Amino acid sequence: MPLRARRGAVSAAATRTQVAIVGAGPAGLLLARLLDEAGIESVVLESRSRDYVERRIRAGLLEQGTVGLLESAGVAGRLHSEGIVHHGLQLQFEGERHRIPLSELADGATITIYGQTEVVKDLIARRLSDELPLLFEVDAVELDGIDTAKPRVRFRHAGEQHAIECDVIAGCDGFHGVCRPAIERNLASFSREYPLAWLGILAAVAPSSDELVYARHERGFALLTLRSPQLSRLYLQCAPDEQIEQWSDDRIWEELQLRVALDGWTLTEGPVLEKGITGMRSFVCEPMQHGRLFLAGDAAHIVPPTGAKGLNLALADVGVLAGALIDWYRSGDDSGLSGYSQRCLGRVWRAEQFSYWMTSMLHTYGDAFEERLQMSQLRHVVSSQAAARTLAENYVGLAAERLGGDDPDAATGGRVGRIAVPR
Ligand code: FAD
Ligand code: PHB
Repeated sequence: MPLRARRGAVSAAATRTQVAIVGAGPAGLLLARLLDEAGIESVVLESRSRDYVERRIRAGLLEQGTVGLLESAGVAGRLHSEGIVHHGLQLQFEGERHRIPLSELADGATITIYGQTEVVKDLIARRLSDELPLLFEVDAVELDGIDTAKPRVRFRHAGEQHAIECDVIAGCDGFHGVCRPAIERNLASFSREYPLAWLGILAAVAPSSDELVYARHERGFALLTLRSPQLSRLYLQCAPDEQIEQWSDDRIWEELQLRVALDGWTLTEGPVLEKGITGMRSFVCEPMQHGRLFLAGDAAHIVPPTGAKGLNLALADVGVLAGALIDWYRSGDDSGLSGYSQRCLGRVWRAEQFSYWMTSMLHTYGDAFEERLQMSQLRHVVSSQAAARTLAENYVGLAAERLGGDDPDAATGGRVGRIAVPR
């Protein structure tokens, strides 16, 4: 397939664009859409097939700020008609459920249930209907010239070798991509592994609870969430080395029934459409940029899913990056690009701490001391409005002005030198 340099203008093999975007996950696709809205050209390169990326089941909970970003990108039509708005969540422990009234505690903010698969489908559909370059099944992606003003991305597509020169490369290729390794020696990384994993299922059954249920049980954590009025998404804590083959559908339902049991309430079972096990880790690299390569989303940071932050962080990063690139192209102002990393890291570390905290409070580790701390923390969250508010504010997503690192100069008193963006 030929690369299209710009809407309608097809060239046999475009060799230049403004922004080369590696990865067509939510971050790469949204960045491309925001840039196009501002008249900035990009080429998106994805190693998997369209079918694969549209089916890959992952996150499902959007913060209000994320919904706003998708609205400003002009891709929120289906999100508004099919997304399900929630105002609270349920915390379950010691056989009781406690409601956390998120909207009441967090200035009216809401969360929206809308699958990552649907966000990705909406963005791909828009990109293709705009006839803009999005190449699936590329391989052998390599970056060079990152320290120069003319970086290049080389790759193979449909058996042919290509090289695209650009002004900036956006590394949106997830945790296992090639972009972060290309600048690894210029980065510091911080990580934490957990002796935990989540077994997730998608089931063709109406959700049994109107709100998400986060359950701490002595047998392990369980989460009830949903994708639509007909589709439930459910998770169980398991060990990272367990194989999905060890978990028959019957065994999964049996375990879920035990962990979320509540007097006077039933968990309705249904056909399991998909199941898989995901390990957990926390990871951040600093800075999120080197030379002309800017990392966004999972390429730069990972959170355990307990706080529902991964997708929201990825989209927040590209919102910041798009704004910085627009300023740079419009007026030559590179302060947004220089401050990109620092601006994102304020939000990233807040989400890291919140996700770590939720994970530590809700999972079982087989440690009696830890268990007593967890119970004390859970009781505190459901009995102190201040503690519940802290959970609620973090869960719905903190506004930019409440994140310490969000304004680079305010956070540092202007003392931290600028990260060089080569001209
Ligand atoms: P990704 O979605 O990973 O997208 C990166 C894209 O780059 C992929 O399409 C990949 O195929 C492509 N790519 C990789 N290497 C290359 C290359 N060399 N060249 C070109 N393309 C490349 N978060 C939650 O909040 N809740 C959840 O329940 C949850 N569940 C998850 C389950 C799993 C199995 C995983 C892996 C993550 C989950 N997350 C969850 C996290 C959330 O889905 C991610 O934070 C989100 O997908 C990040 O988006 P991204 O665009 O940065 O990265
Ligand atoms: C999901 O809907 O998949 C989901 C919701 C909340 C989480 C994690 C996953 O904390």
